[in-house]
Amino acid sequence: MSTTSIDALMRSVPVIPVLVVEDATQAEPIARALVEGGLTALEVTLRTPAALDVIRAMSRVEGAVVGAGTVLNPRDLDAAMEAGARFIVSPGLTAPLTEAAIDRGIPYLPGIANAADIMRGLDHGLDRFKFFPAEAAGGIKALKALAGPFGQVRFCPTGGISEATAPDWLALKPVLCVGGSWVVPAGTPDLAAIRRAAEAAAALRPA
Ligand code: 3PG
Repeated sequence: MSTTSIDALMRSVPVIPVLVVEDATQAEPIARALVEGGLTALEVTLRTPAALDVIRAMSRVEGAVVGAGTVLNPRDLDAAMEAGARFIVSPGLTAPLTEAAIDRGIPYLPGIANAADIMRGLDHGLDRFKFFPAEAAGGIKALKALAGPFGQVRFCPTGGISEATAPDWLALKPVLCVGGSWVVPAGTPDLAAIRRAAEAAAALRPA
């Protein structure tokens, strides 16, 4: 299990777009617009029937590092890896999924929302987490309090974050990047708008 590579992925971009894509024929153009805009780490959520095909199609785009999100169990993990996912993200942290990720050696970003979650992750040797759902779980105040006892731990807050609020999160030392679905809104994709949103997200800096 490579903590180093999930750390490198988190440091490679300020924003990981969280993608819910219904139609696999839209996958390649969306991924190209994101990569051209400067966002190279793409989280494809396993929330649509098309998700595995979307991972396959996006993986063909040069420069894209495509991972799977909403991975809930080892079965999801294996299906995502089979489709070409290079990292996985989950909303929470369970022993079966964590053990499977370590066993398969795939970079893994598990969701945590409290100190006990973090401690269970540390028990497995993990110290990079998605703070989810970031705004609903208490926002910046909660993350600051949670980070206090865990000096080496770093986070990718996700859930309720926008282009406007991302810089405040990125200003926190324990935050390496943020995740969010705002870059690619639901519905028929407007590729020019996606590219512009990706450029703006890639240029985000701490407030
Ligand atoms: C996720 O799955 O990570 C979240 O649904 C993304 O949250 P957002 O839609 O509020 O950005």
